[in-house]
Amino acid sequence: MVLGIETSCDETGVGIVRGNTLLADAVASSVEEHARFGGVVPEVASRAHLEAMVPTIERACETAGIALGDVDAVAVTNGPGLAGALLVGVAAAKALAVGLGKPIYGVNHLASHVAVDQLEHGPLPEPCLAMLVSGGHSSLLRVHDVTTGVDPMGSTIDDAAGEAFDKVARLLGLPFPGGPHIDRAAREGDSVYVDFPRGLTSRRDLERHRFDFSFSGLKTAVARWVEARERAGEPVPVNDVAASFQEAVCDVLTRKAIDAAVTEGIEDILIGGGVAANSRLRSMAEERAAAKGIRVRVPRPGLCTDNGAMVAALGSEMVSRGRTPSPLDLPADSSLPV
Ligand code: KG4
Ligand code: ZN
Repeated sequence: MVLGIETSCDETGVGIVRGNTLLADAVASSVEEHARFGGVVPEVASRAHLEAMVPTIERACETAGIALGDVDAVAVTNGPGLAGALLVGVAAAKALAVGLGKPIYGVNHLASHVAVDQLEHGPLPEPCLAMLVSGGHSSLLRVHDVTTGVDPMGSTIDDAAGEAFDKVARLLGLPFPGGPHIDRAAREGDSVYVDFPRGLTSRRDLERHRFDFSFSGLKTAVARWVEARERAGEPVPVNDVAASFQEAVCDVLTRKAIDAAVTEGIEDILIGGGVAANSRLRSMAEERAAAKGIRVRVPRPGLCTDNGAMVAALGSEMVSRGRTPSPLDLPADSSLPV
């Protein structure tokens, strides 16, 4: 029985798993407290984690129908993420481990976004190509052992994909976090209404940045387009702009993920992170991958966004693969590499 704690950003997550079976996934989000700032405020997130930590642990135990004493190991995200936010989770996990006399496992946030899929679809195919797309990350990772062997192949050189969704949503007057709102608006829009730029896809860029992403030029292009419309006194067709923007993001993400998998001879792509909840990304990835004989696995939306179950899932995998627990002076590392 592994209890996992996640506090790398604005979600306080506590998950409990037994082997690959999910018993509880309690999440308290401070997203509404950040909404009026249009983005996550680190100090606000840390305070919210402090307040939510104990009640969220209690709620998870209640859902799982266990007492704290039944926990065999504690897993915690120790990076990457917001330093102050990570500290709250790491401190709570250490307190639990010491109090219960059980081992503690520090887990990498990115690897846990990959590991969570086994709770839904069974053992991870290894090797696999993982594409992590969230508010803080956009990375392509080659995974040959989710507990120790995750190699970055590329990542964003500026904004994360989720950040681009959030910023464009703001330009279009949609609420924060913008991803789900753009997703919804795009369903009513025309995805070829505006031909927005596809970052790092020119032949020259591909030479140096074949598996990297860039979304800040796309965001600027949307801003210019919207401004030009407003200056001309014409209405902004929100649904069409949302659909065209979303199409540009999904086009680049799926193209590069499939290129990476084909290059590595990998037959399974796993998509994780908050943006993996995007309906167009899912359908486009499946369609394009199938054409190359590649399978796509995407956890259900609730497991794609930050949660404690993913931490417990990776912790459980570390236990079953006989990995050494972390020392009790395990540090929180905001830029922890995979
Ligand atoms: O993984 P996550 O919960 O937190 C981070 O680690 O960042 O991801 C949050 C991000 C936000 O930027 C949000 O706008 C985006 O995921 N997101 C979506 C969708 N649902 C959430 N983006 C596009 N389409 C969605 N349906
Ligand atoms: Zn995340």
